[in-house]
Amino acid sequence: MQSEVEVLLQNLLVSPDRFSDHLKRMAGAIIMMVTYGHRVSTDEDPFIQLAEEVRRTAEETPGAALVDTIPMLKYLPSWIAPFKRLALMSRELSVKMREVPFLMVKEQLAAGNVVRSMVSSLLEDESRPKDGSDEEIIKNCGGVVYSAGADTTATALTNFILAMALYPDVQRRAHEELDTFVGRSRLPHFDDREKLPYLSAILKETLRWKAVTPLGVPHCTTEADEYRGRHIPREDDCSGQYIVSIRCFSNFMLFISNRAMLHDPDVYEDPNEFNPDRFIAKSTTHAAPDPARAAFGFGRRICPGRYFADDSIWIAMSSILHVFSIDEPAGGIEESHIRWSSGLVRYVSCMWRSQFLTIVASRALSLVVFVLVLKGRKLWWGDDL
Ligand code: HEM
Repeated sequence: MQSEVEVLLQNLLVSPDRFSDHLKRMAGAIIMMVTYGHRVSTDEDPFIQLAEEVRRTAEETPGAALVDTIPMLKYLPSWIAPFKRLALMSRELSVKMREVPFLMVKEQLAAGNVVRSMVSSLLEDESRPKDGSDEEIIKNCGGVVYSAGADTTATALTNFILAMALYPDVQRRAHEELDTFVGRSRLPHFDDREKLPYLSAILKETLRWKAVTPLGVPHCTTEADEYRGRHIPREDDCSGQYIVSIRCFSNFMLFISNRAMLHDPDVYEDPNEFNPDRFIAKSTTHAAPDPARAAFGFGRRICPGRYFADDSIWIAMSSILHVFSIDEPAGGIEESHIRWSSGLVRYVSCMWRSQFLTIVASRALSLVVFVLVLKGRKLWWGDDL
C-alpha cells in the first residue's frame, strides 16, 4: 500500500490536474497486487484497462433499465433492445476480466514464479473442497474484488480532495496535526494513526458527507420481512425512509439508502456540511455514530473490503495532506458546476478536474524531494528521513 501511495504522490507532483486518474490508478494497483500479485507499472496496464472497460459498460444503476421492472421485455429481439446488446457485451467483458488474470496466476504457479496473492493462496490451499466448482469460485472472487474495491476507494478519495478544497479550515487543522505528531521529516505511517484523531474524523466525515454508494447494492427479497415495524413485502410495493423497492421478477429488488441514513439530521446535525468535529466527543456532546455502520452495507453481505478500504483511504489521505495543500482555484469553486454520476458508485464527473482544484506541493520541499527522488535511501545531509 505504502509504495503505491508513494507512486501516487509522485504522479500528483508531476501532473496535479490529473489527480482523479492518479487516485484511480493507485486504488486499482493496490487491489491488483493483493488479488493477483500483479504490479501495475504503467497507465496502460492491460488488466486495469480491461477492468475499466467492464466498469464503464456496467455503469448504469441496477434497476435503471426498463427490463428490470418489466421482465417480459427480455423476450424482445436484440436488434430492437439495446439493453440486450449491452448486457451481452458486459457479460463477455466480465468473463474476460475474471479469466485473464486468473490464468496468469495459474501459469505462474505452474512455473514456480508466483507472487503471493489472494488468488494464489486460495489455489494453493490443499484443504479446500475440490468439487469441480472450486476454481470457478476462486476466479469469481478474484474478479469481484477489483469491481467492488477500485472505484469505491478512488471515489472516496476524490470526495476527500473536494472537501479539502471547499473547507480550508479543516485542511489547515489536519496539516497542523500532521506537523505536530508526524513531523516534517517523514511521511505518515499506520503506527501514527492513533495520534491523529482529527485525520480519522476527516476520514469518517468523507464517507458520510458524499456517500460512495448512496443506494448500497441492491438485494432481492426471498421472503417477506419486517424492519422496525416496517413491512418489507415479497410481492407488494414497499417504500420507506431508508428503503426503496422495485419489483424484480416475482420478488422485490431492495435498495437500502445509505445516503438517507448518513444524512439523517437527527443523527448528523447540518448533514450537508463537512464537519469532522462531529466525530470527536466533547465534555458536553457524544461523538456522532461511525458512518461505517451504513456506508459499507449490512448483514451477511456487508462489504468484506471495509477494513482494507479504511486503511487504503487513510494512508492515501494522510500522505497527500502531509505533502500537498489543496487549494480552490482563483474565483472559488462553484458547487453548481460539480456533476455527479448516477451509477451504483456516485463519483464526481470530469467537469471539476479542470475547474475546481489546484494541488500545490507547497508544504515542505524536503518531503517533495523525498517522494520524488530519494525514496528508500538516506539523505546525504542527514539520517532522519
Ligand atoms: C470506500 C470504499 C468502499 C465502500 C463505500 C464500499 C461499499 C460497499 C457496499 C455498500 C457493499 C454492499 C454491501 C451489501 O450488500 O449490503 C459492498 C460490497 C462489497 N465490497 Fe465494498 N466498499 C468499499 C471498498 C471495497 C474494497 C476496497 C473492497 C475489496 C478490496 C471491497 C469489496 C467488496 C465486495 C467483494 C463486495 C461484495 C460482497 C458480497 O456481495 O457479498 N469493497 N461494498
